[in-house]
Formats: sequence, C-alpha cells, structure tokens
Amino acid sequence: MNKKWWKESVVYQIYPRSFKDSNGDGIGDLKGIIEKLDYLKELGIDVIWLSPIYKSPNDDNGYDISDYRDIMDEFGSLEDFDVLLDEAHKRNIKIIMDLVVNHTSDEHRWFIESKKSVDNKFRDYYVWKNGKDGQPPNNWGSFFSGSTWEYDEETEMYYLHLFSKKQPDLNWENNEVRNSVYDMMKWWLDKGIDGFRMDVINMISKVQTFPDGPKEENASYGDIVPYAINGPRVHEFLKEMHKEVLSKYDIMTVGETPAVSPEDVLKYAGENEEELNMVFHFEHMDLGFGPEGKWSNLGFKLTELKGILTKWQKALENDGWNSLYWDNHDQPRAVSRFGNDKEYWLESAKMLGTCLHMMKGTPYIFQGEEIGMTNVAFDNIEDYRDIETLNSYEELVEKKGKNKEEMMQAIHDRSRDNARTPMQWDDSENAGFTLGEPWIKVNPNYININAKAQIDDKDSIFNYYKKLISIRKEYPIVVYGRYDLILEESEKIYAYTRTLDNEKLLVICNFTEKETLFQTPSDINTNSQKLIISNYDVFNHDLTNIVLRPYETRVYLLQI
Ligand code: NOJ
Repeated sequence: MNKKWWKESVVYQIYPRSFKDSNGDGIGDLKGIIEKLDYLKELGIDVIWLSPIYKSPNDDNGYDISDYRDIMDEFGSLEDFDVLLDEAHKRNIKIIMDLVVNHTSDEHRWFIESKKSVDNKFRDYYVWKNGKDGQPPNNWGSFFSGSTWEYDEETEMYYLHLFSKKQPDLNWENNEVRNSVYDMMKWWLDKGIDGFRMDVINMISKVQTFPDGPKEENASYGDIVPYAINGPRVHEFLKEMHKEVLSKYDIMTVGETPAVSPEDVLKYAGENEEELNMVFHFEHMDLGFGPEGKWSNLGFKLTELKGILTKWQKALENDGWNSLYWDNHDQPRAVSRFGNDKEYWLESAKMLGTCLHMMKGTPYIFQGEEIGMTNVAFDNIEDYRDIETLNSYEELVEKKGKNKEEMMQAIHDRSRDNARTPMQWDDSENAGFTLGEPWIKVNPNYININAKAQIDDKDSIFNYYKKLISIRKEYPIVVYGRYDLILEESEKIYAYTRTLDNEKLLVICNFTEKETLFQTPSDINTNSQKLIISNYDVFNHDLTNIVLRPYETRVYLLQI
C-alpha cells in the first residue's frame, strides 16, 4: 500500500455560514474561521475542507455559485482568504476547497449570457432542450422536488437542473466548459490551496438522449440515477481533469458520489486510475430510507450498518481508499441518529468516534461533532432554512397531504439543518457564534454542549477526539492495518481488528444502552495487550469475558 500524506490526515469540515461570525451580521465568515484556527490546531486536525465560500445568491447556501473567482460578500474578501490560507499553513493545516461544477447559479455570468438567445456564445455552456407537447423534455425528478427542467419564456426552451431551478447544470460535453473549469481550478491551486472536495462529481456526464427514467407507480417523476449518475463520459472527463490539472500538484481530492457501488469507486479512486484519491459514498447514510426516501424512517439493524461499512473496507483494501464519516452538512447528527443523545450522550459520542476513527481510511470530522453537537427540533417549519427541507415540506404536506406532525418528526430526524445550526462555542447568548441575530437559530442545548466547557475538561468529547487523532499519528496500524470484522452476527456489538506486521488492534464498540457480554474469538491471541483508548475507566482487562457498559468502547493493541 502506497504511503500518502492524505491517508495519514484527519480532515475537519467547516460550513462557514454556521462556524463563527466575526462582524455581528449573524452569518459566519472567513475572519471568524481565522479566529478559530488555534482551536483546530489544538484538536490536532491536518486539513480543513471549506464548504463553498464563493460568490453566491445562496439559494442553496453557496452550492449555487455566481462567481468562482470571488468570495461571497457575507464571508469577506479574497484578501481575507489569502490571510486564512497563510495562517492555516503557518499552523501546518492544509485547506481544500469545495468544487461545485456540476452546476452554477442561474446568476452566474455564463448562464445570464446563455439564456439570452439560442446563438449566444455561452448557449452551449448549459443543457437546453425543447419540450414535448407543452411538457418538459423528459420525466426526470429533481433532488429538490419537482421536474429537473425549467421553462424559459425568452427562448421557449427548457434548461436542465438536477438540483434547484437556480442551479442550472453545466454542459460538460462542451470543451469550453471543461477548459473554463480547469482554468479556474488552476487559479485556486496556484494560490496554494491543497485540494478539492468535488460536489456531486459523478453527475457531470448525462446520457445524451435524455430518456425518461424508470417511474414507480404513484411517483410524479422518473428516477434520474440510470441516466444522470456515473454517466457514459464521466471517467473520460475525470481523467482529462487529472491530466490537465490535478497531476500537476501535490494535493488531495475527494469526490462526492451518490449511488455508487465499490466497483464504480475502484474506477473513480483506484490507485492507478488517475482520477481521484477517494470518494464519499452514502450507503450507510441511506439506512432506514423508505418510500419517501430520507423522509421515511424505517430504522435499521446494526448488522446492516456493519455489513455496509465492512463491504467498503474490504472492497478498497488493496486498491482505492475509504473516506470515513458520520456527519456532514447534509446529514443529521450521528450522535442523535446512531447513538443516544440523552442519557448516554457522552458515552455514545465517544463510542461513535472510536468506531469510525479506528477504521481504515481518512476520517472527516464535521464542525461540532468533536463536542457532540446533536440534532435540533424546531417546532415551526418557519424556523428551517434549508431548501431541500422547505421544498419537501411543500411537496409532501401541502401538495400530497402528508400528516404535518409526521413530517415535522421526519424533519427533526433527517433535515440538513440539523447539521447547520451555529457552532456552539460557549454558553453566552447565541452560543458565542454571533453578537447579532443568527441566520438560523442556535440549538438551545448550547448551555450544556459547547466547546468552552469541554476544552479544559479531560473527560470531554473534545479531548477524546483529540486523543483519537493523536493515536492515528502514533500508530501506523491505524492508518495502514488490514480491517477484519469479528462477531459478524451480533446486533449489539460492532467489533473489528486491524492487522499490520506483528500487531493487531482490537476495536470493541457496544452500540446499545444495555450491559452486553463481549468474548474475544479464540483465534485472537490476547496476550501482551495494551489499552490505548476507552470511554470508561477500565479495571479488568480479561478479554475472554468483558461485560461492556452502555455504549462502552475500548481499543487494545495486541502482539501477534
Ligand atoms: C451536494 C452538497 O453536499 C449539497 O449540500 C448540495 O445541496 C448539492 N450537492 C447541490 O450542490
């Protein structure tokens, strides 16, 4: 296995809008991030992934970009960015940027031009089609509800948008689009940034006949997955991007790739494919989805979660590389979803961190995860800001008559705003995030859950994460060891080993609030053991029989 710096790194994702406001306008900004670099240094992370900071009308909080080479007014200026990059580098922290090039904002200069006339020089920068008998060109349904096609009165044609209608899809078939994107990427890399997280990068190539997608009986729209995801030219485009841009720099790249199998990922991120370093798959995030997708909550079994994560660990064990995550800006908080954010908040947050960080791959921490931030439950839909949540509410409750209380429960469980409430810095008003009115309300539990309360508390989640990160630096086995699941059938315990040369790590995680018996399988030699981290005090190290306490986790280093 090739050694690489990005395999040995821990990444911290910042959602700038909600991280730290420095000027009292209620919106996080770049100067706020600069203020908190020492906090991140203390935590020990190596790389920051910045969610989009470019100019944007914020239909989708910056994932709708109107100028790729400038900074959103609320976040600051290019000068602020240069200071941020410089200050981060001084602390040995790298910065990767979000690259959102499946689509732009409809307020991007290219789209404004493109819309003007069919013979405008930018017309083919986007995907324009004629309708059929007064209907959109096909039955594709957008990720944010409704059709993927928007009619434009000016030229009497439809344009494609897989996301909101303010996010028109770029036409990657057009060489000029690709070259403009590559130039822009080089412009940022030449400034000294350290890589990219690439938004829905497996959607840039679409089947050019644009056929109808398969449609379930009562569904209003067809599925776009077969024709808009992992499309026919996606690997050709990524190889070209690699040759033209990525190969020229020592950087890291991680693609966001919904609806992929491990076989697909070996093409995107195989060591010799010359495309990306790693990707984010969503299989564990989609557990419990039902007829209404994420808004159905069918629950899941621990064996399903273990099955998914183990499948990915094994599939990429010799080629490719995993990205490891529980939380990001699109997901509910893991401690609320996979742990217990009430009685066992402290224990379960630490257990989840251990379970993930001891796996093989690059771990990603989403802001606030390191202090155990939880889901929020606003009573009123008016308090939500996320376009996906608001559109789904309108579609399901107002148009399809779904019960309002059930939908609010689904929103409490699954809304993207669970991740987007302001970072909880201290117990002062608005959690120390802003001196103004925050753009979205803070989670009222900031009085108890905040960074200030945890930094000096040796038993805090913050200090536990700090230790998890330092263990990765100390023990190469955590980075490069082989992963093997043990106790496959258990619905209570997630346990696995990592093996490198003559050492083995034994990772034990109780996923329940009950005492649970753990017995080390007899083929594992438990002699000369060393406990390297645990979330309870441990007095008895008899690994043949451990009664694990609620959400208890332990990691032992064993000599083979
Ligand atoms: C995926 C991003 O993570 C999400 O936040 C965004 O809404 C869509 N892509 C569209 O850019």
